[in-house]
Amino acid sequence: MPVPVSDLRARFPAYRRTLDGRPVVYLDGPGGTQVPDLVIEAIGSYLRDGGSNVGGGFATSLVSDRVVADARSAMADLLGGRPEEIVFGPNMTTLTFGMSRALSRAWQPGDRIVVTGLDHDANISPWVAAATDRGAEVVFAELDRRVPTVDLDHLESLLDRRVRLVAVTHASNAFGTVVDVARVCRAAHSVGALVYVDGVHHTPHRPVDVGELGCDFYVCSGYKFFGPHVGVLWGRADLLAEITPYRVRPAPPDPPDSFETGTLAFESLAGLTAAVDYLAGIAPDGGVDRRTDLVASMTAVASYERELGRRFLSGLGRFSGVRLYGPPDPDGERTPTFAIELEGWEPRAVAAELGRRGLFVWAGHYYAVEPMRRLGVLDRGGLVRIGFVHTTTVDEVDRLLEMLDALASG
Ligand SMILES: Cc1ncc(COP(=O)(O)O)c(C=O)c1O
Repeated sequence: MPVPVSDLRARFPAYRRTLDGRPVVYLDGPGGTQVPDLVIEAIGSYLRDGGSNVGGGFATSLVSDRVVADARSAMADLLGGRPEEIVFGPNMTTLTFGMSRALSRAWQPGDRIVVTGLDHDANISPWVAAATDRGAEVVFAELDRRVPTVDLDHLESLLDRRVRLVAVTHASNAFGTVVDVARVCRAAHSVGALVYVDGVHHTPHRPVDVGELGCDFYVCSGYKFFGPHVGVLWGRADLLAEITPYRVRPAPPDPPDSFETGTLAFESLAGLTAAVDYLAGIAPDGGVDRRTDLVASMTAVASYERELGRRFLSGLGRFSGVRLYGPPDPDGERTPTFAIELEGWEPRAVAAELGRRGLFVWAGHYYAVEPMRRLGVLDRGGLVRIGFVHTTTVDEVDRLLEMLDALASG
């Protein structure tokens, strides 16, 4: 089933925004997406109708109990796990700092942690900090600069019985490269290491199945998939039961609640469930159950985004002075996220020029400092990043190409 792009766009109030009489073009999805009406309504109605903290037993408290339970079940459907394996937090970074602290209680000198030269810093710094505190060693799986992606042969060569954990991204927020996480999991598990996957950039673009990946943890962020600012961690039930998180004494002692410090943002969780329902409704497969609809919808999203990528890359190929960093094949393992450089232009100046014309793109390192440094672009302002989502139109891609052409040749 195709993605009904214009019907979907009509549900996003932010698409009504104009600049100089023309609709603005959101190409900053990897930094954060817009939200559809049902997400806004869900957040608003939680706040409007009266809320309370969980566990009070009276009507408004029971609403919050239900909101949390519904959000766990929605996220379990999105990621292919079980509701009791879903942990919420303010964002992915905070959840990762928390989990790194909890996991590292068992680390000691002589242990090793593997991180990658492709990852966003949110999946590097927490592990480096925790390892440093415990006297464990951090080693980097190198970047294969040609793609760029993780050099999986190098990653595998680092694995031995000393390795406690591998932290790896499912998709790069800079270049759109999708990593073969299932291969990483097989290799890591063969030496007894855990795998912590950063799914923040992957989640809005492709179906996710944590069981198929074989990972131990998977983290993502609602504001990157058309929802509110809330972080989500999926962890294997047996592991969550085994790990001792840092928590205040009166807080619930059992997972997943035991991993959630303080009070959750209930209105955001209501919005998160609505975002998952929105995704499930993009191209549903008969409405049998939400998980089936999500897989069908995200498969349709991936296929439509590939079309956009094909159009963009073939357009880009026609003008000189533009260099792409990332997989050049739109049909390969990539999301529609493109890091580019325009000859003679500072990345920030390109973003500013495009921004003045109503096309919103990012420039810089977007916290992907390790790959940017390895590619030698960190000190010269990083790269321009263009991100499409399933509500991006062909006309918007053409408008972008026209503007890039004007900048590159002018
Ligand atoms: C790939 C990736 N990982 C992690 C993060 C951090 O997510 P959060 O803002 O939820 O902490 C981001 C945010 O840009 C990201 O793009």
